[in-house]
Amino acid sequence: MGKHFFDLTGRVAIVTGSSRGIGSYMAKSLAQAGADLVVTSRDIDSLKPICEEIKALGRQAMPLELNVLDLDSIERGVGAVMERFGRIDILLNNAGCNRRKRAIDMTLDDWETVVGTDLRGQFFMTTACARQAMIPQKYGRVILLGSVTSYFGYGLIAPYCAARGGVKMLAASLADEWGTLGITVNCLAPGWFHTHQTDRLFQNEAWREYLIDRTPLKRAGGPDDPGPLAVFLASEESRFVTGQTIAVDGGFTTGAVKLSID
Ligand SMILES: NC(=O)c1ccc[n+]([C@@H]2O[C@H](COP(=O)([O-])OP(=O)(O)OC[C@H]3O[C@@H](n4cnc5c(N)ncnc54)[C@H](OP(=O)(O)O)[C@@H]3O)[C@@H](O)[C@H]2O)c1
Repeated sequence: MGKHFFDLTGRVAIVTGSSRGIGSYMAKSLAQAGADLVVTSRDIDSLKPICEEIKALGRQAMPLELNVLDLDSIERGVGAVMERFGRIDILLNNAGCNRRKRAIDMTLDDWETVVGTDLRGQFFMTTACARQAMIPQKYGRVILLGSVTSYFGYGLIAPYCAARGGVKMLAASLADEWGTLGITVNCLAPGWFHTHQTDRLFQNEAWREYLIDRTPLKRAGGPDDPGPLAVFLASEESRFVTGQTIAVDGGFTTGAVKLSID
């Protein structure tokens, strides 16, 4: 029998920030599709549960301590993955954070932490993997993490919107630069998911109802929703797709407003 579409057997994937939330969901999906996984956190002990789940799927799981705000940590981490596996086929730059405040109250630390994690961190993780692995091996699938804020601006999270808008253009720029090197670069933009990062919003029933009303598919994102797109973008079969930002958001980025007046 021929190879199934989207089979990641034999591929090595790094998913940053996979101790919990969307990163852990997508790491499991890549493992289900056959990839061996490098999962990362700033606290290596927090990776025990996800490593167990990946091993239960029959794949290898390497826990890696990584802080994407620290360039030495990035270079060391990517080096350690190369030492163990000798290649990196897939990089999913999921690690991210947010701070909510009025723009006039944002400090330099707020800006540096949010933009440093969500934009600079994705850039330097990607260039480290490209330099150490993907360019020499002439193959790579890079997935950057965007958001609905790659399309829309929202008050109270200005640095986050600036970073996620930047990520959309980073995907386009790197896709152009690396198009002849066997590397594709795309941006997966999740809609609204109830995780540690969004817990305060989701605890608010009125906000939750407002969100669902604004979403064409009438629900928030669930754990099984982002993985299939991540698997596609990580696979050989996405070979002619690069530089794109694709939302997994139940249609939220249609931007539709109610036109019914009765
Ligand atoms: N939830 C949503 O609705 C939503 C929507 C669009 C986009 N996103 C984005 O999707 C990604 C995952 O979000 P989530 O909601 O699952 O968030 P989460 O539950 O807060 O998880 C964030 C992950 O990022 C890691 N991380 C944070 N700062 C890091 C740093 N400096 N270095 C390395 N890792 C770091 C955390 O790891 P440790 O704390 O273990 O180190 C954690 O595993 C983020 O980039 C987020 O901004 C989320």
